[in-house]
Amino acid sequence: MQQLADWGWARDGEAVKTAALLVAELAANAVVHGRVAGRDFLLSLTVRPATTAVPTVPATLRIAVSDCRGKRLPTPVPASRPTDERGRGLLIVETLAAHWGTEPRPPSGKTVWAEMVLEGGAAR
Ligand SMILES: Nc1ncnc2c1ncn2[C@@H]1O[C@H](COP(=O)(O)OP(=O)(O)O)[C@@H](O)[C@H]1O
Ligand SMILES: [Mg+2]
Repeated sequence: MQQLADWGWARDGEAVKTAALLVAELAANAVVHGRVAGRDFLLSLTVRPATTAVPTVPATLRIAVSDCRGKRLPTPVPASRPTDERGRGLLIVETLAAHWGTEPRPPSGKTVWAEMVLEGGAAR
């Protein structure tokens, strides 16, 4: 992901690959399930830097995708048949993210967010 690479994370590193998967799943859900005709979705990426105090806290990345359909919420579906093509996105998010959740975005939207640890740190 260009933005994380610009911020100094290795483009082919695990952190960037994981972030790309999380962005892809949350953005796909905003488009498929959260879409309101004529309205866009909003992606925001926020890095919270590592602290060097004791105890050391690693850097984290928060990925937030806002859509305009506030009344429909993400609902993880239980593991399904191996051949099912739907219902895997939030399982991927649950597996890769340290935390994820949904919050209202007044007046009528919502934000689905996921946070992940950025191992390795920026190469700066
Ligand atoms: N942004 C969203 N807005 C509304 N509903 C959502 C959103 N994201 C996910 N959902 C709901 O959660 C379900 C599970 O999502 P997911 O695991 O990604 O499966 P899939 O997208 O393949 O249906 C979706 O089928 C949908 O009902
Ligand atoms: Mg999905």
